[in-house]
Amino acid sequence: MEKKELFALLSQMTLAEKIGQLVQLTPNFFAEVAAEGEITGPLAELGITKEELYTLGSVLGTHTKEEVYALQKNYLAHSRLKIPLVFMADVIHGYETIFPIPLALGASFDPAVAEEVASLSGAEASAAGVHVTFSPMVDLVRDPRWGRVLESTGEDSYLNSLMATAFVKGYQGTAGELATNFRKIAACVKHFAGYGAAEGGRDYNTVDLSDWNLYQNYLPAFQAAVTAGVKLVMTSFNVLKGIPSTANKWLLQDVLRQDLGFEGVVISDWGAVRELVTHRVAEDLSAAAQRAFTAGCTMDMMSSAYIKYLGNLVTTGVVAETDIDAAVLQVLTLKNDLGLFADPYRGLTTAGALGVKEEVLRKASRQAAAKSMVLLKNDEDILPLTTGQKVAVVGPFAASQDILGAWSWIGQKAAAVSLAAGLQATDLAVTVVPTVDRLAYTPKEVDAMLAAAAACDVVVVALGESASESGEATSKGQPSLPATQVALLQKIAAVNEKVVTVLFNGRPLLLADILLATKGLVEAFFPGSEGGHALADILTGKVAPSAKLPMSYPATLGQIPLHYDELSTGRPLTEDYAGGGYVSFYLDQPNAPLFPFGYGLTYGQLEVADVTFPATMSHQLPVTVTLHNPGVKAVTETLQVYLEDLVGEVALPKRSLKHLQKVTVAPGTSEKIELTLTKDDLAYVHAELSTAADPGDFKLYVGFDSQCPAYGTFRLVEG
Ligand code: NOJ
Repeated sequence: MEKKELFALLSQMTLAEKIGQLVQLTPNFFAEVAAEGEITGPLAELGITKEELYTLGSVLGTHTKEEVYALQKNYLAHSRLKIPLVFMADVIHGYETIFPIPLALGASFDPAVAEEVASLSGAEASAAGVHVTFSPMVDLVRDPRWGRVLESTGEDSYLNSLMATAFVKGYQGTAGELATNFRKIAACVKHFAGYGAAEGGRDYNTVDLSDWNLYQNYLPAFQAAVTAGVKLVMTSFNVLKGIPSTANKWLLQDVLRQDLGFEGVVISDWGAVRELVTHRVAEDLSAAAQRAFTAGCTMDMMSSAYIKYLGNLVTTGVVAETDIDAAVLQVLTLKNDLGLFADPYRGLTTAGALGVKEEVLRKASRQAAAKSMVLLKNDEDILPLTTGQKVAVVGPFAASQDILGAWSWIGQKAAAVSLAAGLQATDLAVTVVPTVDRLAYTPKEVDAMLAAAAACDVVVVALGESASESGEATSKGQPSLPATQVALLQKIAAVNEKVVTVLFNGRPLLLADILLATKGLVEAFFPGSEGGHALADILTGKVAPSAKLPMSYPATLGQIPLHYDELSTGRPLTEDYAGGGYVSFYLDQPNAPLFPFGYGLTYGQLEVADVTFPATMSHQLPVTVTLHNPGVKAVTETLQVYLEDLVGEVALPKRSLKHLQKVTVAPGTSEKIELTLTKDDLAYVHAELSTAADPGDFKLYVGFDSQCPAYGTFRLVEG
């Protein structure tokens, strides 16, 4: 449809029809009406009538294409103006075929991986009738107590921005592609804003960020998604500057619309409009509707506030109908951009229009998982395992299929490849001792594990958290493995010190005890449907590990929240500190993380042989990095470049990531990498919130993690 046709459609709509477009409910509401019985269930609870239901704009959380088809058909038969429903769902890291969790995709340090995952999972979801996914989640995270770190790509705004762009491109394709290529789905970036900074790491808790921190650290990934053309933005559950995001006019208008330039649909998170009442910033649902709508929240997800009260607010003159029109136009534009007016079924009825072959999805899932697993320790080169070695696979996750992670609501655990199954498909001599419980083991189980461990060359011990322990509402005061798992590992190490530990989990854990009892340590996160095969690839060296930690792993609980790009203090703890106090440190524990951001080993090692760059720059700084591989096998590493702005108008991070790149160097050779930093890379948020680079000196760090060494300074000059 042309824009003028959308306006013509809008002009035919009654006020009630317009308001309906701004509301999203789950499919069970329609099922209730379809049963043609008396309305007693959720509809009655929300006080929504059958007439109101058939004005609705959107449905979330359908499961099959048949369900979507039937709902759309029924809806269009009842809807006066035949405006199709838009179907949305949480396709977070796969639909039926599950890919690694977003935190693991962040660990790939490879935006191409995220783009492919988004593209394939979007295509699979589109074949089930999904039009919009509530992804990517780009919240910056610094607190592993918060269970939702699993859904993010980590603690760094640059990495998050690269990933945000990749996700949006993967889901949506190129500009305009959504209208005709029904394998593409619209993306909804979330949660706007600051959700990851919940006090105490407790989900839904208060957030209080300075504007500077918000602009410098939390907004860049949202800006990247908006620049990439993301169609929707979801508000966050938290308050920011004392006002819940969903009612935060400053946030939704000044920041999102004006500063970030977003023009699409803003949707509340689930029930968040209603929650303005529980936040105690609205005395009832009518006031909640008024606050959210006038703040700039276009759509109300799963509450009756808009559908029950916006009409009255318009007729009493509290809300202007022109504002309703503008919001409805955003929703109609989204539907038009998705091609729904041309085909309300988006290809579901067209043979061959949709779908991706399972083998393609599975293969991509395996590759993405292998690219997302971080090798944290490899003493005595215990890995890779070698052909013919006798390997015991033990521990609570040895044969577990609970490796999909949260937000795998369509994915089947039964279809997931366990670690044991993955290793059994290799040419290793594998003995598996599965356990039943994750927390407790019978003496018989322990004896069997110890016997297998003692009889093998290497023991792979699979530890972790169950999927239900990370994700929404899964905050932990103590992000550690259960003591029984640590004790088990220690017992095993006592009978055979050749231990490789594999971790399945959704957040950085406190790993100091684990580290002492193991020679090898692989962070597998929740790797998805093909996890076991991918792990076998990594453990046997078929694929060398190349992933890097997207969050700092704390050495102690007390260090949390923790991030590598902390600001300089007036009294920093320096390397040559000789005691005496009065510096920024703990009396009883180190400042340094157990593993820093960007850390991850591979098989083999590259050396930084040479780094060159000019002494001054005005717009661009060409940098060359020569990497040498002294080993006998090709090595793939993630080159990381960090900058430190030596003097700023505001206190600045000790260093910030500015460039990353996968590099492969053949054995015995050197590779000269050329890259260019631009003036934009030197910019930071000033006190007045403008972003600019100041002339002055910068220190340049090059290497393979966030603790890499400096290679000198250069000066930014006017020009
Ligand atoms: C609540 C979650 O916070 C959000 O991330 C999700 O997309 C919605 N529910 C919809 O399921």
